[in-house]
Amino acid sequence: MKINILIVGSGGREHAMAWKIKQSPKVNQLFIAPGNAGTSLLGINISVAVSDFEGLKKAVIVNQVDLVLVGPEGPLCDGLHDFFGADEQLKDVLFVGPYQHGAQLEGSKDFAKEFMIRHQIPTAKYLSVTSGNLNEGFAFLKTMNSPYVLKADGLAAGKGVLIINDLQEAEQSLQEMLDGQFGAASSKVVIEEFLSGIECSVFAITDGKDYRILPVAKDYKRIGEGDTGLNTGGMGAISPVSFANEVFMKKVEDRIIRPTVQGLQKDQIPYNGFIFFGLISCGGEPVVIEYNVRMGDPETEAVMLRIKSDFVDLLIGAADGTLADTTIEIDERSAVAVMLVAGGYPGSYEKGKVISGLDRIENSLVFHAGTRLIEGNVCSDGGRVLAVSSCGENMREALTCSYRSAELIHFEGHYYRKDLGFDI
Ligand code: AMP
Ligand code: GLY
Repeated sequence: MKINILIVGSGGREHAMAWKIKQSPKVNQLFIAPGNAGTSLLGINISVAVSDFEGLKKAVIVNQVDLVLVGPEGPLCDGLHDFFGADEQLKDVLFVGPYQHGAQLEGSKDFAKEFMIRHQIPTAKYLSVTSGNLNEGFAFLKTMNSPYVLKADGLAAGKGVLIINDLQEAEQSLQEMLDGQFGAASSKVVIEEFLSGIECSVFAITDGKDYRILPVAKDYKRIGEGDTGLNTGGMGAISPVSFANEVFMKKVEDRIIRPTVQGLQKDQIPYNGFIFFGLISCGGEPVVIEYNVRMGDPETEAVMLRIKSDFVDLLIGAADGTLADTTIEIDERSAVAVMLVAGGYPGSYEKGKVISGLDRIENSLVFHAGTRLIEGNVCSDGGRVLAVSSCGENMREALTCSYRSAELIHFEGHYYRKDLGFDI
């Protein structure tokens, strides 16, 4: 039986998923809401925002969608799965993405920390602070060593983590966060022990009972080469990651992935979807920095290239509770994604720049992150514009391929990091 699939989202992650899904013989029609210029080449874009639940409902009914895959965390934390579950017309639609309860693993740092402590999953020492126990917060800071890590409890568009060297400054920031620096998201703040080590992103897909581990990746968050300058949504990614070898990944599975899925079961939190483990390797020992309830971006733009199995089988398995019947086969080769961004990003930047050279790309895939068709031209429509993804026998080869392709693409002011993988 062939099915109709709706992907919710509009970034490079959703374009990469659309590319992978499109290869499945099980797909009839593919829809993307709202999608971008890239996804329009693979399926039908539907002009509905990810936050417009009624609009998504209409799109699902009109187009006889059988399976919904949610890309970003926002609609999951806002209860899109719960909305589907409670609706007579939608309740039987297969859904990939957790309910609001499980989505709190990303939506509330305090929830995630309590979950990890409860299930003995390795994570940094912490204290949750509100205006009610501020003095306890100050006292806790004094017991910690510099630098101090302060995290807004709620979603803060990736900006809610502050790392501060000076104790007085940390105390002041704690006060400011509680006073509403990140709105309601920082009415609670998690103070955390600083961990040093190298980070990686591990992904699993689960139906709440079984799980399958996707290729491990590493993203590069800073705008500048050598990991300098401001944080961005991600300047590129590599997969696999040499330090995340078999020994490390066994620890990750035994100490983190399995206990997380079993923890969800013990806590009676139904969960169908992806779990993204943001990990740090502290001398070879994996520790959880954060959970996300979705795939990473730009990691997905590399990871999708390494999944050999039918991705749709995994999606169906996660949604209907039959993941145990699926297998995942992974390509041993390397894949990378190099992000082309607008000049000025992550500060202010211009949109609407005409992109040229896309028709010259032969050996890479170009996933659109922020693009829009304007009078038939593909134009930039965001800070992160295109992910240039390639495979190779090793990371170097894959990077060389992406960099050669990137040289062929042009839009006014564009920038990309030329040093991805420098730390590996
Ligand atoms: P998050 O929003 O939780 O992903 O945090 C953003 C970034 O802050 C992470 O990718 C880490 O680089 C850094 N970070 C978060 N928590 C810690 C910690 N406890 N120790 C060191 N770095 C951290
Ligand atoms: N690349 C990190 C994230 O998607 O949050």
